[in-house]
Amino acid sequence: MNYALIGCGRIAVNHIKAVVNNGLEMIAACDLIPEQIDNLFEKTGFQKQVARYTDYKKLVDEHPELELVSIATDSGVHAEIALYCIDHGLNVIIEKPIAMSLDDADEIIRRAEAKHVKVSACHQNRFNVAVQELRRALDSGRFGKLSHGSINVRWNRNRDYYDQAAWRGKWASDGGALMNQCIHGIDLLRWMMGSEVAEVYGATRQQYHPYLECEDVGMAVVKFKNGTIGTIEGTVNVYPQTSKRRSTSSARTERSSSAAPPATTSTSGTSRTPARRIRTSPACMRRPATSTETVTRACSPT
Ligand SMILES: NC(=O)c1ccc[n+]([C@@H]2O[C@H](COP(=O)([O-])OP(=O)(O)OC[C@H]3O[C@@H](n4cnc5c(N)ncnc54)[C@H](O)[C@@H]3O)[C@@H](O)[C@H]2O)c1
Repeated sequence: MNYALIGCGRIAVNHIKAVVNNGLEMIAACDLIPEQIDNLFEKTGFQKQVARYTDYKKLVDEHPELELVSIATDSGVHAEIALYCIDHGLNVIIEKPIAMSLDDADEIIRRAEAKHVKVSACHQNRFNVAVQELRRALDSGRFGKLSHGSINVRWNRNRDYYDQAAWRGKWASDGGALMNQCIHGIDLLRWMMGSEVAEVYGATRQQYHPYLECEDVGMAVVKFKNGTIGTIEGTVNVYPQTSKRRSTSSARTERSSSAAPPATTSTSGTSRTPARRIRTSPACMRRPATSTETVTRACSPT
């Protein structure tokens, strides 16, 4: 399949791995900063000579043989680029979030259907072994009838993380903890509950990251159309800092600052939950109505 990559930053490494693993024919790469393409190829050891662009429209226009494009740019331009590609008859893989507004997301779906092309959102955690097992168990009726579900995303992101790129933590280009860090968990909750959302109540706050525009904590109650209820807890404010990508030194730096946030006071203890563990309530499994709790620590971090 003839393939191109638009946006060659950090996450693009995974897209190159996918190119290799799936035997795609990569013919072009695009980034506003040309050196990013060099860095990406160097990091991944990708040797193939490909056409290089700084303007994604030129890339699309000059390669009618293209069939599939990955979009791994700042979130704020995902929709614009996706719509251009779709309008040119291309299948697209879009990094999460696929758009910054529901209107844009709906437009992507509408135009993709009209053009008969496929759109894939990067919600790779759906393919995690534990998540797949949970889904299979749900489908087989192991938990009976679902009553409610919850997702708890208790992560830590400090200033070093946000300083990595100017687009992070801004309403137009990133969104806050819910849109960026918690999106995989929210997606899993909706997928597991097996229904579209009817209503959402919630609150968000900016507590410990005054240099960001967006929220660093959000709590919500979701009513699903099938009658189940969900809760969402999402934050980047808590310790311990477990992401493999965060260095201990940067964790110490923030811990020692006056704005250092406290650990969560939740009684569920998920901040100490080991990686790759999905929790379900054994007691619930014996009852006709059950609940499931998915701890996103089990899934790969953003
Ligand atoms: N699926 C996941 O779990 C996951 C994990 C991390 C990041 N992401 C998403 O991937 C996207 C990129 O994240 P990142 O960490 O790689 O960011 P990054 O800042 O490292 O890379 C983004 C790249 O896109 C380029 N770019 C921006 N606008 C462009 C344009 N109009 N045309 C061409 N190139 C453009 C930038 O120059 C930069 O090199 C974000 O939307 C993020 O939310 C997803």
